[in-house]
Amino acid sequence: MAITRARILGTGHSYPEGILTNADLEKMVETSDDWITSRTGIKQRRKAAAGEYTSLFAVRAARQAIERAGLEPADIDLLLCATVTPDQILPSTGCIIQAELGANNAAAMDLVAACSGFLYGLTMADTMIRTGRSKYALVIGAEILSQYVDYTDRQTCVLFGDGAGAAVLGVVEGDRGILAARIRSDGRYLEQLFSPGGGTRRPPSAETLAAGDHFFKMRGNELFKVAVRSMADISREVLEEAGLTAADVKLFIPHQANQRITDAVANKLNVENERVYSNIAMHGNTSSASIPIGLDECIEAGRINDGDLVLLASFGGGVTWGGVLMRW
Ligand code: COA
Repeated sequence: MAITRARILGTGHSYPEGILTNADLEKMVETSDDWITSRTGIKQRRKAAAGEYTSLFAVRAARQAIERAGLEPADIDLLLCATVTPDQILPSTGCIIQAELGANNAAAMDLVAACSGFLYGLTMADTMIRTGRSKYALVIGAEILSQYVDYTDRQTCVLFGDGAGAAVLGVVEGDRGILAARIRSDGRYLEQLFSPGGGTRRPPSAETLAAGDHFFKMRGNELFKVAVRSMADISREVLEEAGLTAADVKLFIPHQANQRITDAVANKLNVENERVYSNIAMHGNTSSASIPIGLDECIEAGRINDGDLVLLASFGGGVTWGGVLMRW
């Protein structure tokens, strides 16, 4: 009997035109291009202008993905928007995107798993498609992180950028598609990256705003170690589940958080630089958008061909992490 899998049929990405360079940051906090480049690999990141919001870029990425999949918005029956920076609390950014696209036959919602959001979404979509609950799923990762970055905190403000990426999945029979997908989290590490204010525990007020409670707080050093360990472990898990090894991987697209994290994970997996994708220099860390942006850039550059084994791995606040292995 033929095996039914979920396969990515089309991808897209979009980001703001505004660019924040290391030189710009040198004027804002005590830092240097040298420090940022050597410690993170980042040279610039995109930054939304006033009046630009998350769904704006999500919709552009989604339209591209739907078109490249050869579908119409009305074909989509599941729309998952991974974001920690929604347009507003209610309704979900997923529903806002749905209305804008005219994807009126979809069940739309948001998914909060920080930088792992896109892989959480892929995993959910994979399950829904393989069980016959969905025929065409749209998974989006979209963030305007610059709204939650404290531009007086030099540890975090150099890292984050804005953008959106999207993928449309459908059913395929045979060897192609998602071979293995795993997601995990560990709430014991929740204070490694969090934003304390603005929710019901610490509702937005003049005091929380003045205290900057809505900004991201991070323990960079601790997160670094968890990131390397969790991405390497989950990569090995999905490879093992599929009966494959890192030597079989054609392209590894990890979450773009820090070039040193990417290098350390690749090193642990024995995947040399040529098989690892990095766009951190250009985009910084765009959280849930980083993997779909990377994936789409690789497809546009012709770096992924039919039959190639592609490994995706992520980690993020929560902490959350995930791995997806697919045969293109
Ligand atoms: N410019 C200049 N100096 C900086 C700086 C900046 N932007 N940010 C921090 N520093 C300083 C620190 O204050 C510290 O100074 P001190 O020794 O006088 O105290 C020094 O640089 C070293 O700081 P440290 O935190 O040990 O640096 P690091 O090598 O760990 O790099 C991060 C810091 C944040 C880049 C790194 O820990 C990291 O990338 N962690 C993971 C973060 C992440 O991925 N978050 C998102 C999760 S999805």
